[in-house]
Amino acid sequence: MFKLLLFLFFLGLVAAENGLDGWLRYAPIPFAHKHHGHIPDKIVALNSTESSPVNTAGLELQKGFKGIFDKRVKIDDRIHGRHGKGGSSVIVGTVEQYANAGGKADVPSLGNDGFWLDICGSTARILGQNERGALYGAFEYLSRLAQGKISDDTFASNPDAPIRWINQWDNLNEGGTHGSIERGYGGYSIFFDNGTIVPDLTRAAQYARLLASIRVNAVVVNNVNANYTLLTEENMDGLARIADVFRPWGIQMGLSLYFASPEELGGLDTFDPLDERVIAWWHDITDKLYKRVPDMAGYLVKANSEGQPGPLTYNRTLAEGANLFAKAVQPYGGVVMFRAFVYDSKTLNQTLDWRADRANAAVEYFGELDGKFDDNVVVQIKYGPIDFQVREPASPLFANLFETNTAIELQITQEYLGQQCHVVYLPPLWRTILDFDMRVDQKPSLVSDIVSGKRFNRKLGGYAGVANVGTNTTWLGSHLAMSNLYAYGRLAWDPSSDSVEILQDWTRLTFGFDPKVLHTITKLSMDSWPTYEKYTGNLGIQTLTDILLGHYGPNPASQDGNPWGQWTRADSDSIGMDRTVWNGTRFAGQYPSEVAELYEHPETTPDDLLLWFHHVPYTHRLHSGKTVIQHFYDEHYDGAARAQDYVHMWKSLRGRIDKERYEHVLHRLIYQAGHALVWRDSINTFYFNKSGIPDDAGRVANHPYRIEAEDMILGGYLPYAVSPFEAASGATAVVTASNSSTGTAEVELKVPDGKYDLAVNYFDLAIGRSEWSLSVGGREVGRWEGDSEYVLGHAPSPYIDGHSAMRITFENVWVRNGDKLRIVGQADGEEPAPLDYVSVLPVGVVD
Ligand SMILES: *[C@@H]1O[C@H](CO)[C@@H](O)[C@H](O)[C@H]1NC(C)=O
Ligand SMILES: *[C@@H]1O[C@H](CO)[C@@H](O)[C@H](O)[C@H]1NC(C)=O
Ligand SMILES: *[C@@H]1O[C@H](CO)[C@@H](O)[C@H](O)[C@H]1NC(C)=O
Ligand SMILES: *[C@@H]1O[C@H](CO)[C@@H](O)[C@H](O)[C@H]1NC(C)=O
Ligand SMILES: *[C@@H]1O[C@H](CO)[C@@H](O)[C@H](O)[C@H]1NC(C)=O
Ligand SMILES: *[C@@H]1O[C@H](CO)[C@@H](O)[C@H](O)[C@H]1NC(C)=O
Ligand SMILES: *[C@@H]1O[C@H](CO)[C@@H](O)[C@H](O)[C@H]1NC(C)=O
Ligand SMILES: *[C@@H]1O[C@H](CO)[C@@H](O)[C@H](O)[C@H]1NC(C)=O
Ligand SMILES: *[C@@H]1O[C@H](CO)[C@@H](O)[C@H](O)[C@H]1NC(C)=O
Repeated sequence: MFKLLLFLFFLGLVAAENGLDGWLRYAPIPFAHKHHGHIPDKIVALNSTESSPVNTAGLELQKGFKGIFDKRVKIDDRIHGRHGKGGSSVIVGTVEQYANAGGKADVPSLGNDGFWLDICGSTARILGQNERGALYGAFEYLSRLAQGKISDDTFASNPDAPIRWINQWDNLNEGGTHGSIERGYGGYSIFFDNGTIVPDLTRAAQYARLLASIRVNAVVVNNVNANYTLLTEENMDGLARIADVFRPWGIQMGLSLYFASPEELGGLDTFDPLDERVIAWWHDITDKLYKRVPDMAGYLVKANSEGQPGPLTYNRTLAEGANLFAKAVQPYGGVVMFRAFVYDSKTLNQTLDWRADRANAAVEYFGELDGKFDDNVVVQIKYGPIDFQVREPASPLFANLFETNTAIELQITQEYLGQQCHVVYLPPLWRTILDFDMRVDQKPSLVSDIVSGKRFNRKLGGYAGVANVGTNTTWLGSHLAMSNLYAYGRLAWDPSSDSVEILQDWTRLTFGFDPKVLHTITKLSMDSWPTYEKYTGNLGIQTLTDILLGHYGPNPASQDGNPWGQWTRADSDSIGMDRTVWNGTRFAGQYPSEVAELYEHPETTPDDLLLWFHHVPYTHRLHSGKTVIQHFYDEHYDGAARAQDYVHMWKSLRGRIDKERYEHVLHRLIYQAGHALVWRDSINTFYFNKSGIPDDAGRVANHPYRIEAEDMILGGYLPYAVSPFEAASGATAVVTASNSSTGTAEVELKVPDGKYDLAVNYFDLAIGRSEWSLSVGGREVGRWEGDSEYVLGHAPSPYIDGHSAMRITFENVWVRNGDKLRIVGQADGEEPAPLDYVSVLPVGVVD
């Protein structure tokens, strides 16, 4: 019996560490019994209706006390006797409910969703301005307990902005397939499957719990690239079920709409937003939705962008399009988030027009519409003028709308930032935008104060975070990426929150109290965005990823001549977008004068945005004193070296983190270290090739430890010219002669006897499971499969390119001079076991 109990206990522990509970694990704290004096005898939740967030708060407190202190505390819905008598209690409810129940407290006036927390010994009062606020207060109290921060405190907390939404880009996927997620890297949709809403919404409820704890108040559940099929009667019923599981967590549901639905679903011959029949159709749909979901948050609309239909189709303004929906939801208190991501790249020609610039589009489309949007419309603006790049200046649209509500769109899912296969802790990047001072009318005008509504006295505004969680227990595909989701909520509540403090709260809640774990994850995460920028795109040139496919691996050539208007204008002498007013696209002139003046000249533009604003020779000297090209080379070497360190840093935590999460993270960090080298070499090779300017330090195109596969003795393997050329060392890989055959590559090693790290660079396409084996001197060193597409989750590539390039390393292999190194590749289907090179590295060297 004891054995069985022990086993169950163990099972419980293990099951809890698959990531599903995120930062809400309520793991036992060290010396929990010492704090038993701080645990109340009972929980009083002042509303016991099942769908009430106050009721949820009571249950959550109970769960927390059980997990953290192993103590079962009863829930009551009434205050018995006077406060302080008849045992200690934690009381949770709204300020009003507390007063109605006879409670007396000197609560400062609270903003919408705000709360007041009063902790005194084993007694606590958690009072919200509304029920949602009370739940937030309960989560705050629990977060403190779970971090061992057990002390008396009395304070109020109010949100900086009313809108703190999440956007999921989930598709309904008709035709028998699971709901896919645009830019999702952690499994399938938790909401949709085969064209409809999943029957079991357990995960949706668990997601709502996580989001409520970070004070997110609404989730738009379907992709901004929406489909009219969302609005069938059956699906509207399903959506009501989603709203039902959100409601106890104080989360409202929102929907993305497809602009042409009246035509494609309603059977009308138009979707003109001013047509009476179209208006009636949308009002009818809206009524039907609110009948099912009376507290629906509202709509999100992407119109006239990237092929989406919209009001411009009928020569109507974007404001007329937005107001159509605004009028429909207005009687219900609903909000319309209207995306400012509108551009028409077809009008841009890079070759013909030096002044062509997609970055100009948002202000051009929306600037003149200021004041024309209804009061319940919020224009949702991506943080930068292009598209979630590794570094962008703040979108100038924030400083061009004074009589219009605005929200900032941040991307938690790492579309252009390593797709959760590279660690990138995002708050430091987000803060570069939120803290940016636009100097509107020469007055302080932080982006965070503009979107909160403070700067221009707007009632609505705030935050939209694109967070594409999926069915994987890790939610985002990576345990470490969850800090971004957590931090998003914290920053939307208080944009002045410190990136390190947020991270450390998250780390303690997610991984426990070990100071070494805390220190290591802090160091690694805080270093991660600068590092990613170093080995991808520097100086504001953008991420330099493949713009045509996947947005994942390196492909700098795709950044020019593409039809998306995302360009670098790199030629053999110079690089960068000339966005000056005097000679370029005039984009700099979209900022208020003080900022515009700064960005107009290379001398006053910060180095990290130089190539965003200026077209300069590769030999241009930065403020740092380095040339642009040498800066590229050095940064890529430095960034890739830091990524190697992450593996060692993480390995130092072995035994300090549960095995399941330790291994999951380690696997990704090893992968990242290899892919960082792919990035380094691709970008350096590409610009060396373009400019012909050698690296001062002699590293670029000089790899003494490498043996190119194409230079080995090949049997059944044929040389293959890789495209883009820079994705393969020496521009060439080898592939098996046919789809089913075996290839061998052999070479005699001429190295002093000793121990070496053997690194093999190969390509794992998102098709097939090729197999490789490596042997040295007749002894097998290892074998592996091309199965990363089932594990990593980044955008799949069926090609031999910068997305599929990767590395496996075998450490401390004993090699004798003259040993034969042999790799055997077994193709599988269309995956021809591609091989790039082998590095025979003295221990400690990485190349
Ligand atoms: C209790 O919660 C329900 C559901 O949220 C709500 O309708 C009701 O008004 C609440 N009761 C009180 C007394 O606040
Ligand atoms: C919407 O879904 C239907 C059914 O799967 C499909 O035929 C149609 O092409 C989709 N429309 C858009 C705009 O994606
Ligand atoms: C998908 O839904 C259709 C009906 O819309 C149904 O006929 C089909 O069996 C479903 N497929 C799967 C795999 O559930
Ligand atoms: C995520 O889920 C998918 C589909 O269920 C699975 O194939 C994959 O291995 C999971 N990925 C990770 C990183 O756990
Ligand atoms: C929109 O306006 C343009 C130019 O005024 C005109 O050529 C076009 O026919 C109009 N389109 C519609 C749908 O009214
Ligand atoms: C841009 O103009 C050039 C030169 O006239 C032409 O060859 C090219 O096709 C145009 N590109 C686009 C995308 O229209
Ligand atoms: C000014 O613009 C022209 C293209 O019109 C470009 O060739 C030139 O390099 C630019 N000059 C500077 C100093 O940026
Ligand atoms: C760049 O690549 C081209 C085409 O592969 C080649 O002809 C040229 O020699 C390379 N230049 C440098 C500097 O490597
Ligand atoms: C491999 O298989 C694919 C599809 O089955 C085919 O298109 C391709 O030509 C084959 N390649 C070789 C080298 O046989």
